[in-house]
Amino acid sequence: MSRSGKVTVVGAGFYGSTTAQRLAEYDIFDEVVLTDVVDGKAEGLALDLNQSRSVEGFETRVVGSTTGPDGSGYDAIEGSDIVVITAGLPRKPGMSRMDLIETNAKIMRSVAENVAQYAPDAVVINVANPLDEMTALAQLVTGFPKNRIMGQAGMLDSARFTHFVAEKLEVPVGAVRTLTLGSHGETMVPVPSACTVNGQPLTDLLSITEIEELVDRTRKGGAEVVALLKTGSAYYAPSAAAARMAKAVIEDSGAIMPVCAWVAGEHGIDGVYLGVEAEVGREGVRRIVETGLTSEELAGLVEAAEAVRAKQADVVDL
Ligand code: 2OP
Repeated sequence: MSRSGKVTVVGAGFYGSTTAQRLAEYDIFDEVVLTDVVDGKAEGLALDLNQSRSVEGFETRVVGSTTGPDGSGYDAIEGSDIVVITAGLPRKPGMSRMDLIETNAKIMRSVAENVAQYAPDAVVINVANPLDEMTALAQLVTGFPKNRIMGQAGMLDSARFTHFVAEKLEVPVGAVRTLTLGSHGETMVPVPSACTVNGQPLTDLLSITEIEELVDRTRKGGAEVVALLKTGSAYYAPSAAAARMAKAVIEDSGAIMPVCAWVAGEHGIDGVYLGVEAEVGREGVRRIVETGLTSEELAGLVEAAEAVRAKQADVVDL
């Protein structure tokens, strides 16, 4: 098996460490780097992951590095092809993703400055919340071309929607295709017109009310897990989604996936990071795919764009 490239995961919380684990177990990278500000945490998890290699059967080497406020430890990420930024606080029960904006903006600024210094050619995948705003901030601080900065949300939201549909119709998840666009939050835009079960339109199988119920549960999908966990947010489905995006980048696969990407005129929307379908490859976003939307879905996407545009303008001052 040929391996290539170096991928860094910034932040060794549950989201970051499970992302690193998935990336290492793909066995397609030369090296996975995991960093954290907690002394020894990233090194400990890296050692643990490396010790699982013979059992799981992968050769990718995992390196851990503790980073300091002075930028110490970031030399470990030098030359990364991809950087997944998971650093930041997760929600607590009752919090919205937007409640995290000030704290996470400070963390993002510091991380993004170091990414720009040590991994200037990397494709960045941000997962920190509020997702769309932190993705915009990552681009602002790194100054990277906009196609090289993406956010992970649509893959996760669609995966949740798919799970709920499969559960409702008692079919395998593999039979279900769903799509969500828009923001990772209140203005998430599920796209029922693009949803199918064994190739059959979802709208033929469920009533509008039933679809609305699943859409509502999808929109609140992250909060439902937070309420159950009480001490943090979801990480298995989020890390699966983030790792798949990194895989599409390193393999230059051209996979079309819902991601938070810079929209410049597509769908009639201009100048904002927003959840849309995009073709993902070695340069990050190759192009935005203008999914055919009903007029109602398009109106939802435009509304989402305006909501996140206002907030993205505010991050400049955070
Ligand atoms: C979620 O929706 C972490 O925002 C992420 O679970």
